[in-house]
Amino acid sequence: MRLSHFVLLSGSISASLPGVLGWGAAGHEIVATIAQIHLHPSVYPALCDILNYTSPDPRAPPCRLAPIAAWADRLRYKMRWSSPLHYVGAVDDYPSQTCEFPGSGGWAGERRRNVLGAVRNVTDILEDYADGGGSVGYATANEAAKFLVHFMGDLHMPLHLTGRDRGGNDDKVRFGGRITNLHALWDGLLIAKAIRETPSNYSVPLASPQIEWVLRGAIYDSYVRRIMWEGVLDQWKDEIPSWVACPAPARAYGGGGLWQTVMRVFGRDVAGETDDEVLCPYHWAAPIHALNCEIVWPKALDEPPYKNTSRIGEYAPRGGPYLELDTPEYAGVIKERLIVEKLLAQAGIRLAAVLNWLFAETDGLNVVEI
Ligand SMILES: *[C@@H]1O[C@H](CO)[C@@H](O)[C@H](O)[C@H]1NC(C)=O
Ligand SMILES: *[C@@H]1O[C@H](CO)[C@@H](O)[C@H](O)[C@H]1NC(C)=O
Ligand SMILES: *[C@@H]1O[C@H](CO)[C@@H](O)[C@H](O)[C@H]1NC(C)=O
Ligand SMILES: *[C@@H]1O[C@H](CO)[C@@H](O)[C@H](O)[C@H]1NC(C)=O
Repeated sequence: MRLSHFVLLSGSISASLPGVLGWGAAGHEIVATIAQIHLHPSVYPALCDILNYTSPDPRAPPCRLAPIAAWADRLRYKMRWSSPLHYVGAVDDYPSQTCEFPGSGGWAGERRRNVLGAVRNVTDILEDYADGGGSVGYATANEAAKFLVHFMGDLHMPLHLTGRDRGGNDDKVRFGGRITNLHALWDGLLIAKAIRETPSNYSVPLASPQIEWVLRGAIYDSYVRRIMWEGVLDQWKDEIPSWVACPAPARAYGGGGLWQTVMRVFGRDVAGETDDEVLCPYHWAAPIHALNCEIVWPKALDEPPYKNTSRIGEYAPRGGPYLELDTPEYAGVIKERLIVEKLLAQAGIRLAAVLNWLFAETDGLNVVEI
């Protein structure tokens, strides 16, 4: 459905400017928007009930995921207990040198209190609620739904999967001359640049009511159209079924039994902690973590003059110099390979698959055909 110009302009422009937490607000809203495109229509009665909102406008979707996508970041400092749930970091994790996920030191922090455990936790809560046994209250389900939309985004942000330098927050770099840090660059600046540089042919609606119905006049609408058109409907079309697949659990240690139990007790069966055939945050996160070694951490940051190698634990000489990353070799390659776009699409499509599995009458994605 094509919305009127007025409706498009009255969308949430200010709410959509890239922020400084998580993926920025824009990143989380883009993930939610891509998810919503792939929701099965039969999801809505249960979903809107849990989200506590049903639109009176029959031309709009009954309820939307984007407005709640950044909620968990807005309340992160009020709900301090939830802060470790946004990321997972390994002990002594140093992505440029080892891509182990995790290494022999295991995860930092309390067991399961990380983004892998949190995605599992809130999905289990929603499953119990959907089953209607009464063990999960309405307010808990409402909170779990808002967390799920958010954490699925965080799971696809490479720097939320490493403990190095506080997920890159401590690595000062330059982007277009401006001093920032690696984490903020991936949270918001790369997305903001991609939105700015989206070709103007994407400001026109696509011939897909299923896509256009969900868009609401946000600054990233054109970018979502481009991710759908060039990525989901074209470049990644054939691999998308593998994005939502999960391997059979407990493969690493030969099924159930004593050995499995021993490994679980000692915290080494990392996949077994969180993954099953439908939801597998560990399996999904592992290749995203590998991007940290491949491309997120520029090799130059490990060497002088950007790193003082004669001083252990010192990230960079105080006061600079800072490595410029708005270059063809860094931002150019990320743009060329659609790396950020693919992460946003994977997060959105996996979120849709989980929500469909939880609440729809039919499993699987509501695949877009053009
Ligand atoms: C699981 O989710 C609930 C509801 O959001 C929260 O209260 C609890 O702390 C979470 N636990 C873990 C381990 O993430
Ligand atoms: C649901 O919405 C009503 C009315 O807007 C509000 O009073 C109530 O607190 C909401 N419940 C939750 C769990 O957010
Ligand atoms: C928009 O233009 C690009 C070239 O800049 C082209 O590859 C793409 O297919 C166009 N998209 C649509 C929806 O026509
Ligand atoms: C690097 O660290 C060493 C040892 O702390 C110090 O003497 C030296 O001045 C530092 N070099 C720079 C460029 O900061």
